Parts: sequence; structure tokens; C-alpha cells
Amino acid sequence: MPYDFLLLAAAYLLGSVSTAILTCRLMGLPDPRGVGSGNPGATNVLRAGGKKAAIITLLGDLIKGTLPAAAAMLLHRGETVAALAGFAAFLGHLYPIYFGFKGGKGVATALGVLIGINPLTGAAVAATWLGMALIFRISSLAALIAFALAPVYFLLITQAAQAAWVLAVMSVLIFWRHRRNLRNLAQGTEPRIGRKAKD
Ligand code: G3P
Repeated sequence: MPYDFLLLAAAYLLGSVSTAILTCRLMGLPDPRGVGSGNPGATNVLRAGGKKAAIITLLGDLIKGTLPAAAAMLLHRGETVAALAGFAAFLGHLYPIYFGFKGGKGVATALGVLIGINPLTGAAVAATWLGMALIFRISSLAALIAFALAPVYFLLITQAAQAAWVLAVMSVLIFWRHRRNLRNLAQGTEPRIGRKAKD
């Protein structure tokens, strides 16, 4: 039990590392907080000008969620502790201690959490995101549909109700962080994937 709290604290600190900001800094690209949507995430890093940087950001943010959740599973702490550990990393991404508590929207990190707890659920959510992205060509819309379904997929696949509640809260927070995207979607002004920040 005390080790669980250590895991949660370590997960939060890991989640607080902004892959988007660090990658852009290292690759000499503009700070993603100052371009496009201003979101330090893979979609906006792509807008900031780098496909390679966007992939690195996506993988980095994903791993931040996977590591603590998978560690809890490997330590046989069960799905609930794994979901809480992943949730702590997710909170770190949203409210990073190293970046003035102003972070991203948490989509890639949340996907990483799912992969760490139950790879099949992670694959189902990733496939939903991809399918929706191919149909609508809008990253936020694909993410919102995928994460509305994520707790349902998880519950159907694992039957772990407590952990599913934690993941449901994570999905609610993803919706909350996409408030502006939701407004843009309603007004038909949400940008399509791959559109450059200056377009
Ligand atoms: O993963 C973030 C995505 O859903 C939306 O990002 O930059 O279009 O607001 P953005």
C-alpha cells in the first residue's frame, strides 16, 4: 500500500514531463504552446511543422501512461491500482508540475494507460480513433468518440468495474480539456488533421 502511493507520485512526476515541449525545443521547432491550438500534444506538434516530432511526441506521451499502469499490473496490484497509477500520469500531463500546471489534453497518455492495463482495450480504442480520424479527418473528434467508448470497451473486456470508473473519470476530463474543440466542432471551424498552423 505505501508503495502504491510512491508509484502514484512517481507516475505524476513522469506524466508532468511534456514530450511536446521538449521535443520541439530539441528539434528547433516553435513551442507548440504558441502555435495552432496552443496545445502541447502530437496533433499540434504536427501543425507546428514536424511529422517526425509529432510521432516522437505521440510515443513519448503514450509511454508516460503505459509505464506506471503496466508496472502496477506486473507487480500484481490489480486493475484498480493500475488505473489509478495511470490516472496520476494523466493528471501530470494535464497539470504538469514542471510547466506551471498548464499541460495538454491527455489523449495519447490516456491511450497509453489503457495499453498498460489491458492491451486489447488499448487496441480497440486506438482502432476507434484511427477509424474516426480516417472518416472525419479531425483529431479531436476522433479522440472524443474513442474516449467516450473507452470505459465501455474496458468494462466489457475486463469486467473490472472499479477501474472502469477511474477510466470514466479520465474520459470526462478529456472532454473537459476539449471544451474549445467542442465549440469549434459545433461551429464547423475545427481544423482537419495535417493542416499547418499558418493555413
Ligand atoms: O490529442 C489532442 C487532440 O484531440 C486535439 O488537439 O491541438 O487539435 O486541440 P488540438
